[in-house]
Amino acid sequence: MQIKDLKVHYPIRSGFWNTVTDHVYAVDGINLEIEEGKTYGLVGESGSGKSTIGKSIIGLEKITSGQVIYEGQDVTNKARKRTSDYNRNVQMIFQDSMSSLNPRKRVIDIISEPLDNFERLSPDETKKRVMELLDIVNMPEDALYKYAHEFSGGQRQRIGVARAVATNPKLIIADEPVSALDLSVQAQVLNFMKRIQEEYNVSYLFISHDLGVVKHMCDDLAIMYRGRFVEYGNKKDIYTNPQHIYTKRLLSAIPTIDPINRKKHKAERIAVEKEYEMNQDKFYDPNGRVYDLSPLTETHQVAINVNSVKESD
Ligand SMILES: Nc1ncnc2c1ncn2[C@@H]1O[C@H](COP(=O)(O)OP(=O)(O)OP(=O)(O)O)[C@@H](O)[C@H]1O
Ligand SMILES: [Mg+2]
Repeated sequence: MQIKDLKVHYPIRSGFWNTVTDHVYAVDGINLEIEEGKTYGLVGESGSGKSTIGKSIIGLEKITSGQVIYEGQDVTNKARKRTSDYNRNVQMIFQDSMSSLNPRKRVIDIISEPLDNFERLSPDETKKRVMELLDIVNMPEDALYKYAHEFSGGQRQRIGVARAVATNPKLIIADEPVSALDLSVQAQVLNFMKRIQEEYNVSYLFISHDLGVVKHMCDDLAIMYRGRFVEYGNKKDIYTNPQHIYTKRLLSAIPTIDPINRKKHKAERIAVEKEYEMNQDKFYDPNGRVYDLSPLTETHQVAINVNSVKESD
């Protein structure tokens, strides 16, 4: 999949006539290429536009400008049929499993809904397939006829995973799939997702606000701030050689449980804060907007003011 210069702007209306007076630049010029079988992390603070990217890719938000190309076909803002190939191949696990899984439906109906849209299976075949899917995410068979509200958050999120993989999709957009879960359950759900990837060779676009959570999942990472990418690179680039001050701040915010390095960690955090205060113009233009990405190495791109770098050389 290729995402080219994607923009999603929401109008702000105000006044007596309810006219459009301004826009929220939720996503403002994003480029991303997604290859088969790889995992991409999309990381940034709350409100930076992560969910909006996911939703606009699957057609739930209207794209203001730019393009989404899937296997050579332009799928931008197409009024897509529920049963189209694209809808089958690109699935999303939603951020909030409580409201995205219909509480009045039984698990068998929730998981089989995408199957009903895309495959003509008999009721017996459907039941068999749903049971296989429940097994993949380690849920007991008797979950079949229970309602979504009868499960814990972790179990519901696993039901969401089972639903997303039901149609054998090629890309799953996972919007904070584990953020509401406690640490041990997080690891469990992440392991299921990894296993599913190994088995079916799906790609993931993994959305999170926490660089710690996505560390072991992602091949490549995009760090997002106010609708723009501030840095893009592979796991090594981002975790061992971060260049943008915003990435450094996110990294220093990962809590540490290692008592020996705690002091060192704190010193690092203070150093990052200082660098942030000293070098605003290197990282943000006078309007507080992030610069365009420029390449650093073949895998690593960072959004810095090219002029400020030259001056300081
Ligand atoms: N339907 C909408 N109408 C107007 N503004 C919206 C709408 N949906 C989102 N926004 C705004 O767009 C911006 C990006 O929102 P988005 O949900 O993509 O953020 P996010 O990165 O997913 O945040 P979080 O980590 O909290 O989920 C926010 O400023 C939000 O207020
Ligand atoms: Mg979100």
